[in-house]
Amino acid sequence: MKRIVLTTLAIMMAAGMVFASGQGESGAIDIGIAMPETHVERWQRDGAALLQGAQDLGYRAEVTYGNADQGLQNEQIQNMITKGAKVLIVGNINEGVNSVVSEAAQEGIIVIAYDRLITGSDDYDYYITFDNFKVGEFQGQAIADALDLDNASSDDPKYITLFAGSPTDNNANFFFDGAMSILRPYVEQGVLEVVGPAPMDSSSPDFTRIATENWRPEVAKARMENLLSNDALNVTLDAVLAPNDTLARAIIEALSADAKYDTTEELPVVTGQDAELASVQMIRDGEQYMTVFKDTRDLAAGAVALADALLKGEDTPSIDGARLDTETYDTGLKVVNSYLLEPINVTSDNWEAVMVGSGYYSASDFE
Ligand code: BGC
Repeated sequence: MKRIVLTTLAIMMAAGMVFASGQGESGAIDIGIAMPETHVERWQRDGAALLQGAQDLGYRAEVTYGNADQGLQNEQIQNMITKGAKVLIVGNINEGVNSVVSEAAQEGIIVIAYDRLITGSDDYDYYITFDNFKVGEFQGQAIADALDLDNASSDDPKYITLFAGSPTDNNANFFFDGAMSILRPYVEQGVLEVVGPAPMDSSSPDFTRIATENWRPEVAKARMENLLSNDALNVTLDAVLAPNDTLARAIIEALSADAKYDTTEELPVVTGQDAELASVQMIRDGEQYMTVFKDTRDLAAGAVALADALLKGEDTPSIDGARLDTETYDTGLKVVNSYLLEPINVTSDNWEAVMVGSGYYSASDFE
């Protein structure tokens, strides 16, 4: 046993994997990559692709994961500053990150907000993400289509319950507002009825009642269970707006444990996002209705290209595959230069073409 552990360690050291980094011998780095968490699968892909991309361009880089704990992530970022990072690529957890962002600014370090806007700060200038409002629109439209809301009648309304992402993640607002931009008119016509709290946009006080602290699946599962034995007890749900795949699967788990929804046919339409392998399989099997693919390889490549251009002295470089938006993303203190990539809608009709066709997964992942 001891020998196996030692051998494994030796192999890892030889492969330079121990610190999941490509630091120089001194431990100095050029690019620090701080990802928020690992309980949502995508971040591990983002982290790996960012690290590889930075190293491919000859930079010394390091990646860390914050376990959805801003205090921990701040220590990790602090450490990167100490190691001499010139660029920090940060997917933050909440506004608690601002103290280290401001420290970085004082040291002349470039901060790039990655995927999530860092709000409440004027200490950085760049943001790269997907068109997150569109992600929400895809989710809302999928529900409208699946329930044929255009032909539904208020005498026989369809029932939906609403979930949102973390209240401290600015993206959660965009996803929800995008979805409700499609669904709200049907609610107003009375053909779609919301079961449970019914905020019509993310600025409603009720938004916090449907939000899911730190995107934790156990929180969403418990809330779904609670709805099933209270507000949703006497109706049959036709749809659940779920903001991402991790939460969608937790919600489906709660639904499946209820006799009303314990077969695939009885499950309501449940949305998602991130095209996680387990969810794509469930889409193939008809258990989850859709997901939204945001290719982490492209986002990582864009972020590394941006870091590289900024380090070479460019100001607002153009980045392949991304649209520069200098007007929309306001931290509350300033509008930052934002690079937007296009998300892709995935259903049972196109999952194989998109997910295997793009090489994101291989056909053998689905056997
Ligand atoms: C990301 C999503 C992810 C969620 C939870 C969001 O900021 O955009 O892709 O599912 O965080 O980690």
